[in-house]
Amino acid sequence: MSNSNFPSSIKSILIFGAMNVETEWMISKLSDVKRKEIGGYPFCEGTFNGKKIIVGRTFTGMENSAAATAIGILNFSPDCIISQGTAGGHDPLLHKKDIVIGERLVNISSFKTNRYGKDEGIHPTEWEIKDWDLFEGDEKEKEVPCLYSSSTLVELAIKTEYRNGKLAKGTISSSNNWNMEMDRINHLVETYGSTCEEMESYAATQIANRFNVPVLTVRIISNSEQHPGEEYERTTGLLCQEFVLDVVEKL
Ligand code: 5AD
Repeated sequence: MSNSNFPSSIKSILIFGAMNVETEWMISKLSDVKRKEIGGYPFCEGTFNGKKIIVGRTFTGMENSAAATAIGILNFSPDCIISQGTAGGHDPLLHKKDIVIGERLVNISSFKTNRYGKDEGIHPTEWEIKDWDLFEGDEKEKEVPCLYSSSTLVELAIKTEYRNGKLAKGTISSSNNWNMEMDRINHLVETYGSTCEEMESYAATQIANRFNVPVLTVRIISNSEQHPGEEYERTTGLLCQEFVLDVVEKL
């Protein structure tokens, strides 16, 4: 969607991860690294494959992600942004170590409820996603509000080779919640086409879109309630970083 202003050549890329297990390996691959901490967010700027790469650590959650994205854009003026890291699988066809190219993103922390009186219950399956920023006051909006990654970046990423699992385009559900209720997860799959959930990418995309900077989400499944025994495994963060640098090599 945010494709109209795609630069003719990409010279600098800002790559975000929330945790050290999602950033440290990439930083070790950069040359001439300069570390700068701004507002408590660490950024490491270096070169890789002839390009300027800035690896930023957002820490966890939507607010941190939004702040780090704005700070990163204002201080490093990147040609594009990649929001990457781990995610919980929602699509039953995906397993731990599979990678999702986040073509579409929904904010599963932003709902409007129906009106019910006292003792009339709580009805989460009726709640409707609202993006108060995009659709302010528009009660007629029927489509599910969502954001999109740059289609140029999505097409490039999906053509990148990945040997550790499946590679699929999908919908990223972002919020500060970690969902482990199967009925809720399946409701998100059925209602919004959710492929996986995480805590940063919708916010990163929202802010990048405001600044007109092309943005891509790449997420590795680190855990999935759909499959017994597929508990969170932090080392998947490394596989995601390896894949992201393979994508960067093609830019
Ligand atoms: N639900 C929510 N966030 C998850 N993360 C990994 N798995 C999940 C999950 N099942 C990521 C978030 C956040 C950190 C807690 O891990 O993006 O950065």
